[in-house]
Order: sequence, then C-alpha cells, then structure tokens
Amino acid sequence: MKESFADKIIMVTGASQGLGKAVAIALGSAKVNVVAISRHPKNLAATQDAVEAAGGRCLCIPFDLSEFDDYGKLFLALKDQIPHLDGLVHCAGSFDRCTPLQYVKVDTFREALDMHLTAPNMLTQIMLPLLRRAEAASVVFTSCDMLEEDQNNWHAYGFAKRALAYAAAMWQGEHPEKPYRFNTLNPGRVRTDLFKRAFPGLMPDVVPLPEDATDAFLFLLSDASKSLRGQSLHAKDLINKEHQLN
Ligand SMILES: NC(=O)c1ccc[n+]([C@@H]2O[C@H](COP(=O)([O-])OP(=O)(O)OC[C@H]3O[C@@H](n4cnc5c(N)ncnc54)[C@H](OP(=O)(O)O)[C@@H]3O)[C@@H](O)[C@H]2O)c1
Repeated sequence: MKESFADKIIMVTGASQGLGKAVAIALGSAKVNVVAISRHPKNLAATQDAVEAAGGRCLCIPFDLSEFDDYGKLFLALKDQIPHLDGLVHCAGSFDRCTPLQYVKVDTFREALDMHLTAPNMLTQIMLPLLRRAEAASVVFTSCDMLEEDQNNWHAYGFAKRALAYAAAMWQGEHPEKPYRFNTLNPGRVRTDLFKRAFPGLMPDVVPLPEDATDAFLFLLSDASKSLRGQSLHAKDLINKEHQLN
C-alpha cells in the first residue's frame, strides 16, 4: 500500500504531537509530502525532522485553527506553494477535563465546538479548491468513542465529535459523484497528552500508542479504501480490513 502514496501531498492538523504527529511520520515513511499544521513552531520543527528522517518531506505551517478570520490567508499562503492536496487529516484537538453539563462554562463549551466541529469543517471548506485540483482526495475527520456510545461529562467535545460523523456524510452527500471522499475515523483511545488530561485516573501504560492507530489513517487516505465514502469508521476495523487486503 505504501508505494501508492509516493509524492502525494497530504495536510495533517495537530501534527506537532500525539496522533497527528504519529500520522505525519507514518506518511513520511510512505514518501508523502506532508503539510503539517499546529500552533507551536518548535514542536512542528521536531515533526519536520522526524518526517524527513522517515523519508518524506514536510512543510510546516504554524497556525492557530481557532483564528477563523485567518483561514483565507492560510489558503492564499498555500495555493502557490503546493499544486493540490491529495488528503486532509483533521487531528488537531484540545481538551482539559471532563465536566458535567450543569457546570460547564460557556467559553469552554464554545471553544470545544470551535476546535472540534467548526475548525475541521471550515478548514475543509477553505481547502476545497486544493482538494479539487487533485485527481482524487480523501478527507479524514478524527472522532472518538462518543460516536458509538453515550458517555457523560464530555459536553461540547462529545457533541462535536458525534456531529463529525454527520459532517462527513453531509460533505459526501453534497459531492456524490466527485473523486474526493470524506470519512470520520475513531482511532480508539491512544496514549497522548490529551488522553492523560482527559483520563487522569487511568493507567496510561495500558493504552495503545498513537502509532498503533496510524495504519488505519493511511488506509483511509490510500486508493485501497476508495469505496469508503461518507462513512463513520473505527480504526481497529480498518486495520483488520487492510491486513485482509494485503
Ligand atoms: N488521545 C485519544 O485517546 C483520542 C481518542 C479519540 C480521539 N482523539 C482525537 O484525536 C485528535 C488528536 O488528539 P491527541 O490525543 O493526539 O491530542 P494531543 O496530543 O493533545 O495533540 C493535539 C494537537 O492539536 C494541536 N492543536 C491544539 N489546539 C490547536 C489550535 N488551536 N490550532 C492548531 N492546532 C492545535 C496541538 O498542537 P499545538 O499545541 O502546537 O497547537 C497538537 O499538535 C483530537 O481530535 C482528539 O479529539 C484522541
């Protein structure tokens, strides 16, 4: 499967650590040109080194995805630097702690909606001309267990993650015949800073590493998963599927 990625251009948000960084490095090892987005340049530079050491190339864009007024500038800065986008992986995220709905503050609630629902949709919207310039493109929204189960205390984070499944279906429904596709992927719990903050009581050692979920992202970005369009998927099912295909 890795050969089919050579020279593709794929944007990864949240690429400076955790899941996004692991996906960026896995893409690097498949010779992808990665466009890495997150806020902190120093952390992005470490991702760039790792992607390049793995065999890919990496363009770092320090950018705050909650600054919606700057999305146009981001597009203008990119449109002459890259010919197209073959993929867009939405991995950026932030979450401090679980809070019951009766106590959550309005700013916290809004920030969670902005980061986990507005940002991935608006970034997809602004990048659509670059995705359209590719022969085919795959957009992956990163969701979580709230997609499949009702869990308490996750307030707007949980609402946003569940809504991403509908977002992928709606994007696909509005582009039914086109060669680009939109899916939502639940990576399962992975051992990252966000996880440690959200589950302070859990022993992180028993939770899989973000690297354990990257095969599912690569599968969903590859031509091998072309038939998956507008779906809500779980990483463990895709990893099994990929093994069946190989
Ligand atoms: N960890 C899990 O168990 C788990 C399970 C299911 C789903 N997820 C989802 O997977 C995604 C990645 O989570 P993670 O666990 O890898 O978290 P993480 O380790 O905390 O990484 C989050 C990433 O998002 C970036 N980010 C945060 N705010 C940003 C902003 N305003 N603008 C741009 N980038 C921003 C961070 O970089 P900067 O700070 O440099 O901006 C960082 O690269 C999230 O969507 C999360 O909801 C995680």
